[in-house]
Amino acid sequence: MLKNRARLPPPSGRPALSSATTFPAGPGFGQQAFSRPAGAPPLPRIARGEGIWLIDTAGNRYLDASSGPVASNLGHGHPRILAAMEAQARQAVFATYSQFESAANLDFAERLARLAGPGLDRAFVVSGGSEAVESAIKFARQHAVVTGQGSRWKVIGRQPGYHGNTLGALAVSGDDYAHEIFGPMMRAVPRVPAPLTYRLPPNHTAESHARACAAALEEAILREGPETVLAFIMEPVGGLATGALVAPDIYYALVREICTRHGVRLIFDEVMSGAGRTGRFLAADHWPGARPDIAVLAKGLSAGYAPLGAALVPAAMVEEVVRAGGFMHGFTYAAHVLNCAVGAAVLREVEEADLVGNAERMGSLLRARLEALAASSPLIGDFRGKGLLLALELVADRDTKAMIPLERVAPERVKAIGLRHGLALYCRRTSRGAYGDWLMITPPLTITADEVGILADRLAAVLDEYAAELRAEGVLR
Ligand SMILES: Cc1ncc(COP(=O)(O)O)c(C=O)c1O
Repeated sequence: MLKNRARLPPPSGRPALSSATTFPAGPGFGQQAFSRPAGAPPLPRIARGEGIWLIDTAGNRYLDASSGPVASNLGHGHPRILAAMEAQARQAVFATYSQFESAANLDFAERLARLAGPGLDRAFVVSGGSEAVESAIKFARQHAVVTGQGSRWKVIGRQPGYHGNTLGALAVSGDDYAHEIFGPMMRAVPRVPAPLTYRLPPNHTAESHARACAAALEEAILREGPETVLAFIMEPVGGLATGALVAPDIYYALVREICTRHGVRLIFDEVMSGAGRTGRFLAADHWPGARPDIAVLAKGLSAGYAPLGAALVPAAMVEEVVRAGGFMHGFTYAAHVLNCAVGAAVLREVEEADLVGNAERMGSLLRARLEALAASSPLIGDFRGKGLLLALELVADRDTKAMIPLERVAPERVKAIGLRHGLALYCRRTSRGAYGDWLMITPPLTITADEVGILADRLAAVLDEYAAELRAEGVLR
C-alpha cells in the first residue's frame, strides 16, 4: 500500500524533493531571498568547515576572518564539540525547563557563572543575543517592580549602538535608519552619544570626549528623572555599530559611578565581546573597577554550534524576584538541553585550550600586522579593538578622514573582493554608514600564528585591489 503511494506523482505544481535534489545557484526559497539586494550575485554555498576554513560546494576555501558574525570562536568542525553534541543528542535533546531540570543546563550555568566572576552568578539561558538582551532588561524591570521601584522603566542606550533586532532590543539600540523604519512600533528611549575615538567633535581629545559622553549620561538621567531610569546598556567593547570601539579607561569608571549614584543598573552587552574574544573572559574584566550589574552573552558562548544566549545577573536579585513569584518571562527553547550541553562543551574548551590567552596573544600579533598594513594602505584610517575583536576603518583620505562615498558601500565591495582572495569578511552598517565604514577582523580564537600571517597577507592583497579600483575611478588619489 505504502509502496504504491510512494509511486504517486507529487501534487500538481509542487516539485518532489529528495536528498539527492540539487538546487540552482541563487536564493530561491532560501533566507537570502530576504536579505540580498535585488540583482546581487549569489553567495558561495557552504559545503563544510574545517578549523578556520570554510569550503564551498565548488571546493573553494575561505579563511574565516570574522568568525561569521563574530560567533564561530572555536572555528569549524571542532571534534570535541561535535562529540559532546552527539553524546547529548543521544540522551535528550529537549525537555522544557518548566517540566524538567537538566544536568546540561546546570553544568553550563555553573561554568558560565564561575568564568564570569562574582556578582554575575545566575544565568537565564535563551537562544541568542536579542533574546538575552530582552531577558536582561525585563529581569531588571521586574526586579525593580518587586522591590518597590516600579517607577523605573527607562533604559538608556548609546548612539550608535546595537543590541539586537527584536523590538525591545532594537528600541535600546542606536541606529537611526532602523528607528526610521521600525521606530513607530517601539517605545522611544533616551540615547546618549557613544564615546567614539576616531572622528571627534572639534576641540576634543578622545579622553575629553569620553568625559563629555559620560556627562551626557548623567544629564539624561537627571533630565528624565532618576526615579524613572531603570538601566543603562552599552557594549564595553563595541561590535558592528562602532567598529570595535574601546573607550578611554576613564569612561568606564565614570559610567559606573554615575549608575551607582542614581540607582541605575549598568548592563554590559557582551554578546560579541564576551566568552574570551577580547583576551579576557568578559570584556568587563579589562575594567575591574567598573563591573556591570548585569551582563549579556551569546555568539561565542556556543561558538556557532547551537543557538544560545544568556543574561547573567546577581543571585541576590534572582532571590528577590523568586520570592515575589518568579521571573515572568521565558521562551519555548529557553535552557534548551542540547544547546546547554553545547555551551558547556564550548566553555570547557575555552578553558582547557586557554583560548582566552590565545585571543590575547594572537590579538597582539594580528594587531601588529594591521598596524603595518595601516601604515601602507591609503584606505585604512584607523584600526582599533581588543584581543581578537578588531576593526579597520575604511577612508578615502587619511589626512581629512573623509569617508569613501557612502553609496559605494565600501565594506560590501571589500567583502566581495575578499571572496575572490579566499577571505571571508563580515560587515553590517549602522545608521546607513553615517558614523563611518569598517571591517571586523575577528577570526576564531583558535587561530595560530601562521594563520594570522595568511589572514594579514590576504587582507593586504584585498585592500590593494580595492585601492587600485578606487584610484582608477578617481575616488582615491
Ligand atoms: C552587541 C550585540 N548585541 C546583541 C546582538 C544580537 O544578537 P543576536 O543576533 O544573536 O540576536 C548582537 C548581534 O550581532 C550584537 O553584536
